[in-house]
Amino acid sequence: MSIVDEWKVGADSPLRIRSFVLRESRMTRAQQRALTELWERFGIESGNTPLAIVELFGRRAPLVVEIGFGDGESLAVMANADPEVNYLGIEVHRPGIGHLLLRAEKLGLTHLRVMRADAVEVLERRLPDESIDRIQIFFPDPWPKARHHKRRLIQSSFVALLARKLKSAGQLHIATDCEDYARSILDLLNATPRWVNKAPDQGFTPHPADRPLTKFEQRGRRLGHEVWELLFMRCE
Ligand SMILES: C[S@@+](CC[C@H](N)C(=O)[O-])C[C@H]1O[C@@H](n2cnc3c(N)ncnc32)[C@H](O)[C@@H]1O
Repeated sequence: MSIVDEWKVGADSPLRIRSFVLRESRMTRAQQRALTELWERFGIESGNTPLAIVELFGRRAPLVVEIGFGDGESLAVMANADPEVNYLGIEVHRPGIGHLLLRAEKLGLTHLRVMRADAVEVLERRLPDESIDRIQIFFPDPWPKARHHKRRLIQSSFVALLARKLKSAGQLHIATDCEDYARSILDLLNATPRWVNKAPDQGFTPHPADRPLTKFEQRGRRLGHEVWELLFMRCE
């Protein structure tokens, strides 16, 4: 099935609680063109078979996976600054994907690939164990109401999945402006022996200078939101 076709996330497993709601927001003409013309260059078709990563990128290099890249602006900047590393972005929101494809074309990126899919399914079915060097999740949907917390992406089963997919010494980088979400992630990871907190005091980590602000983050900053950032390493 092509990216431009009508598409349902995880139609084969309707019972799983999703971390997102598909918004059918309007696409610009340029984003629509990008999805039609650039998908073949940057996109990876949906499916259930494990990905042949070296073939997809045409080279063997460290792999960074960004989950929920939004409009992909910060992902494009990071990839552009880091040509020795392969970048894979996973998002479900079509206008955001279109935006990233336009940026990737403009920057002439050859080491970025994009998937339109539920990242949980991609990790479960398509990415081999111990295949990823860094996973980054910037501003996962906060689902602030207690009755919606079950929709939060980052919880114990998901974190166990991330640990399986990361290489040994691979990194997990998370940022959020939702304090109770940040503290629950910190407690969860600090309590799991497989994860080593890179912050010296076992707390949050300062904003790394080389991480560009995301669109969601910039909006939050304008509204005076604080940001909590976590950097963990997967040990044996
Ligand atoms: C709050 S937005 C943040 C977007 C971007 N990272 C930023 O900071 O601007 C969260 C994004 O995660 C995406 N998302 C949520 N759950 C996802 C999943 N399971 N797989 C892929 N993307 C997901 C949503 O579509 C949304 O675009």
